[in-house]
Amino acid sequence: MADTKPLTIWSGSSWSGSALASAAQDLFRQETANHQVVTGADDLAQADLAFGQPDPETVITSARLRWVHLTSAGYTRYDRDDLRAALQKRGAMLTNSSHVYDEPCAQHTLALMLSLARQLPQCRDDQRTDHGWHTGRRRSDSFLLGPGQTVLLLGYGAIARRLVQLLAPFGLNVVAVRRTPQGDEHVPVLAESDEDAVNAALAQADHVVNLLPDNASTHGYMGAERLAQMRPGARFYNIGRGTTVDQDALIAALESGHLAAACLDVTDPEPLPPDHPLWTAPNCFITPHSAGGHADEDERLVRHFLSNLAAFERGQPLADRVI
Ligand SMILES: NC(=O)c1ccc[n+]([C@@H]2O[C@H](COP(=O)([O-])OP(=O)(O)OC[C@H]3O[C@@H](n4cnc5c(N)ncnc54)[C@H](OP(=O)(O)O)[C@@H]3O)[C@@H](O)[C@H]2O)c1
Repeated sequence: MADTKPLTIWSGSSWSGSALASAAQDLFRQETANHQVVTGADDLAQADLAFGQPDPETVITSARLRWVHLTSAGYTRYDRDDLRAALQKRGAMLTNSSHVYDEPCAQHTLALMLSLARQLPQCRDDQRTDHGWHTGRRRSDSFLLGPGQTVLLLGYGAIARRLVQLLAPFGLNVVAVRRTPQGDEHVPVLAESDEDAVNAALAQADHVVNLLPDNASTHGYMGAERLAQMRPGARFYNIGRGTTVDQDALIAALESGHLAAACLDVTDPEPLPPDHPLWTAPNCFITPHSAGGHADEDERLVRHFLSNLAAFERGQPLADRVI
């Protein structure tokens, strides 16, 4: 049954805390004109729906909120037993924006993998430093992404699923780790609890792509022991969250040459302080949490919400449902 009554929609910020771009705000206002939109922090408890990054405490205590849609893929602040229990008790839902960020993050990861394979950061360094024509070294250090190499994906969510599609033409062997394998994945998936299998996969992988969220089970997941398990000369990529990696151990693995390179889009803390040792660690390439970014990001966030709003009004299942 379609819910045609005007709803009170609380609208907040993007994941970074900044206001949405004006074109996205215009689109939101235009498409929610039949509803009442409120924006004050105090208005949240009186809203039927929330779009943004609402205060988790109010999400728990509000008797009226029926659905919260986050403007992020990460939902660490909401990943709490009390919040889950409160929403389930009153039949409320939590959705996120994984399908806004899966494509840019998967493309960014592929770009990082190709840039290492084709020695692009190193060539850029040559251009910015000695203008040397290091053709012999750059050619011989270049390699192909292709059969015979293994990629291990840590986490098998929206980003991983899209990355698997993008990697398909290269013919790499792709394996993933997740908490609860479902049996319907498009690549072999190991259960995170199967430590022996995960360690064996780490030892075999040429590329370890970390797509883990920040939660109690992932803090320091790639610690000194798991980094040591990695195959010598392997490459490590972090698109998930900085807290999932022991950064001192990672720097040591790069300095010793155990790992050939690391590409980090996320660090702990963010922003990374200018004097942080990761900036100068050998073969460590950093992008500033930009993997999910794209020019029309805010408009896509609004369109994703509007698509879910239409489903909500029709009583249909919502995309990217977390609770
Ligand atoms: N760099 C960026 O700009 C950017 C942008 C968007 C997102 N992100 C980060 O990327 C993360 C993943 O995004 P997504 O959209 O793919 O998320 P998602 O769809 O929620 O997938 C998360 C995956 O992580 C797995 N997981 C959670 N805890 C684990 C553990 N301890 N061991 C192994 N696997 C575990 C989950 O397993 P189950 O499904 O079995 O529970 C799930 O497969 C986000 O949470 C966010 O932190 C970064």
